[in-house]
Amino acid sequence: MTDAHIPVISATGLFTPTDSISNEELVSSFNAYVDLHNRENAQAIAAGEVDELQHSSVEFIEKASGIKSRFVLSKAPILDPETMCPQLPERPNDEISILAEIGVKAARQALDRAGRKPEDVDAVLCACSNMQRAYPAIAVEIQDALGMGDGFGFDMNVACSSATFGIQTAADYIRSGSAKSVLVINPEICSGHLNWRDRDSHFIFGDVATAILVEAKDIAPAQHWEIVGTKLKTQFSNNIRNNFGFLNRTAPETRDHKDKLFVQEGRKVFKEVVPMVATMIGEQAGRLGLKSEDIRRLWLHQANAGMNRLIAQRVLGHEANDDESPTVLDTYANTSSAGSIIAFHKHSDDLKDGDLGLICSFGAGYSAGTVFVRKVG
Ligand code: COA
Repeated sequence: MTDAHIPVISATGLFTPTDSISNEELVSSFNAYVDLHNRENAQAIAAGEVDELQHSSVEFIEKASGIKSRFVLSKAPILDPETMCPQLPERPNDEISILAEIGVKAARQALDRAGRKPEDVDAVLCACSNMQRAYPAIAVEIQDALGMGDGFGFDMNVACSSATFGIQTAADYIRSGSAKSVLVINPEICSGHLNWRDRDSHFIFGDVATAILVEAKDIAPAQHWEIVGTKLKTQFSNNIRNNFGFLNRTAPETRDHKDKLFVQEGRKVFKEVVPMVATMIGEQAGRLGLKSEDIRRLWLHQANAGMNRLIAQRVLGHEANDDESPTVLDTYANTSSAGSIIAFHKHSDDLKDGDLGLICSFGAGYSAGTVFVRKVG
């Protein structure tokens, strides 16, 4: 294959909201909500008609997940025990939508780092878990806001694996010659689909946006990451699900049910996804002729520290240290498709020419994606 058809990652970009919520702040507001609920429903609880709610705890959250805080776009309403969700007012149609806005911020950083002008990008894929509207596609709005001119964009949703699925799609465009320069953008406003009143999951998610510029090697900057191989997998499961959608309005009696937000069977996810992903990585490494000792670093999906510890151990054959499998869970929490890209963005500059690493995602669907990359330059 000539350099014109070899896909590489030229650069990545990251937008991080200004505000963050610590576990202490989150738990104190959640517990205030619980006390309020239990007080207001004291009689019904005593009569067994309403469930008494339990307090959350900082210790549980950190031990169960490794999460210490999360960035959010709308902090105060999330922490208000009477509101407990972000408030992001609708914008008029002549103003950029918030999902596109944060995507553009991440994209501009990736373009700057690669020295690429927006007008030289051929395609933009908005790949994330939650689109803010049905149409026009967020990607097309981003294309316009960046000033890309000719070319095309579309939205794709593979939940937590959207970024790696986007990378393979972009890489295939480069391999086939249908594009030379493709932006994959992952704006994740996870605070909008999280049920902040659900003790089992109220701590899981945060907001962020990442961008990945995938290009043909012959136009890429001297320093880049060659995409050595990609592999995607999906396997249907109801263990992570969100039933929000345009048909909800046709069934008004269920419109406000909790299943219109993120719900999961966390333990089942843990048990089923760890072996699925570890096996998938091993098989893909085998296909590429790679041994575990060839892998310098893992940039794993950031959902749970325990899952990552087990996957890394199965892949590397020993307990991984922070250098081999860096985490951003402590500060960013789970940011869905953006998680492994944040880890890559923040923890890849120190690798040397020839070093090999793996970007890996997994999540709802189930879906999983592996992207082996080698540093050049
Ligand atoms: N504070 C205190 N205790 C809590 C709590 C909270 N916020 N939430 C749950 N608990 C309690 C439960 O009541 C339960 O108590 P019990 O054993 O007395 O019944 C106990 O903690 C264990 O709950 P469980 O839900 O089984 O916890 P866990 O150790 O499995 O951790 C997750 C929960 C969600 C963090 C973990 O299962 C996970 O991360 N799984 C993978 C999720 C994932 O990757 N999802 C992908 C999303 S895209």
